[in-house]
Amino acid sequence: MYDLGNVYDAEHQFLEAMRTMEKQSSSDNVKSLLQQHIRQTEQQIQNLEQVYQTMGQQPKRVKCEGADGLVSEAQKVMKETSGNPALMDAAMAGAWARVEHYEIASYRGLIDGARTMGNNQAVRLLEENLNQEEQTAQKVEQNVPQLLKQAMSAGQRGA
Ligand SMILES: [Fe+2]
Repeated sequence: MYDLGNVYDAEHQFLEAMRTMEKQSSSDNVKSLLQQHIRQTEQQIQNLEQVYQTMGQQPKRVKCEGADGLVSEAQKVMKETSGNPALMDAAMAGAWARVEHYEIASYRGLIDGARTMGNNQAVRLLEENLNQEEQTAQKVEQNVPQLLKQAMSAGQRGA
């Protein structure tokens, strides 16, 4: 699977970014979603290590430029919205939703590759990860409108 090292690296990068976001977030909802997905991501990394095992290979991070770009973008919006907690939460959730969709696309590609190779064990492990990303994307997106509303009303109060 050509992109496995990229996804393995991306998950590590996103894990670190989520830990930072969790510290910065002032929304209980976003915080608890992040805590949940941090735990899932740790498990996903282990699943990827198992995928390597099914191929008799050692896990190896290959720098994922896409993840790097998404993380920089998230850092940028966090910096731009610092001092406005409600807006920062809305901006972080937006950046996070984009991360999840990137992961969904990546896992779909990996699953196609594993299927082509007839590696059913890898397909099962990768589908586990994909399902978590899909559910997370949905949960994060459900929170965005409310966060934006809160940011707007905080803005009107001059906060
Ligand atoms: Fe994820």
